[in-house]
Amino acid sequence: MAEKRIIAVVGATGAQGGGLVRAILNDPNGGFAARAITRDVNSDKAKELARLGAEVVAGDVDDEASLNKAFAGAYGAYCVTFFWAHMSPEKEIAEAGAMARAARAADVAHVIWSTLEDTRKWVPLSDNRMPTLMGKYKVPHYDAKGEANEIFTKLGLPVTFLLTSFYWDNLIHFGMGPKKGPDGILAITLPVGDKKLPGMAAEDIGACAYGIFKNGRAYIGKTVGIAGGHLTGVQMAASLTTALGQEVRYNAVSPEVYRGFGFPGADDLGNMFQYKRDFEDYYCGARSLGVSRSLNPGLLSFDAWLAKNKDRIPLE
Ligand SMILES: NC(=O)c1ccc[n+]([C@@H]2O[C@H](COP(=O)([O-])OP(=O)(O)OC[C@H]3O[C@@H](n4cnc5c(N)ncnc54)[C@H](OP(=O)(O)O)[C@@H]3O)[C@@H](O)[C@H]2O)c1
Repeated sequence: MAEKRIIAVVGATGAQGGGLVRAILNDPNGGFAARAITRDVNSDKAKELARLGAEVVAGDVDDEASLNKAFAGAYGAYCVTFFWAHMSPEKEIAEAGAMARAARAADVAHVIWSTLEDTRKWVPLSDNRMPTLMGKYKVPHYDAKGEANEIFTKLGLPVTFLLTSFYWDNLIHFGMGPKKGPDGILAITLPVGDKKLPGMAAEDIGACAYGIFKNGRAYIGKTVGIAGGHLTGVQMAASLTTALGQEVRYNAVSPEVYRGFGFPGADDLGNMFQYKRDFEDYYCGARSLGVSRSLNPGLLSFDAWLAKNKDRIPLE
């Protein structure tokens, strides 16, 4: 049997990378092997990936030498950054650069860069519809990723730019689940008015990425947007109501109000949702459900995700 092609996966113990590692391991005849990159090969999550059949290696996106080792001999590399771990766009760009250079040094045949839009192409810094943040960004955790695209292009890498979507898992892990209002009724709060929000199961990002690797050269040099559903706040609330068996309302606030919530990153997220609201046609259009399903036939809809995860959503 031919040697398996190794995919080196950054963030393998996390949401995106973990989904990719599991997608590779769940397809033992697919011709690919998973190399899981982690800062701690002895963590429970790393050991679990090893138990499932992944090669687990040490690597840190802040340590380029470690990435050079971790990418060596790989056919493909999945590159993702962790904005919320440090909340520094400059650091995120530096980390993307380190991964891109390591991919170049290892001469990998296919890189997937998990990116997002540089929103300043739609909302220049001079556009006052939303505040400029950290001196030169509108949506720091988007703009940094989008700005970093050029690093991959300039190095001449065989790269696919993967535009991801809002994780529905944010309802579980990111404090975005339904909360009881003064009237005692649950509500989700989003500043997107009546516009549609592309979303997906975080686990499906890796499964879509696996589909991109399996397609050989077809997606090299391309930008691919993915989502499991495009839903309005009202539609999300209706699905939650059915899944949870109790009323959930949609609380549409303005981006200004959302930015003022005061939690770390509220201004970044307020601007992000405003961008999605104001450029709904582009933003949904760039994340085709059909393409996502073709890459990952098991792609979950919001209702299917809720059926699996409703008991994990904290109700405050
Ligand atoms: N939440 C959303 O809705 C959403 C939507 C689209 C895009 N995103 C983007 O997704 C990115 C995060 O990806 P994720 O959700 O997959 O992350 P995650 O689940 O938080 O996983 C992070 C994993 O990455 C590893 N990691 C952290 N710092 C590292 C470093 N310096 N070097 C190497 N590995 C490191 C950690 O593994 P070890 O501890 O094992 O090293 C951890 O398990 C963010 O940049 C965010 O902007 C989020």
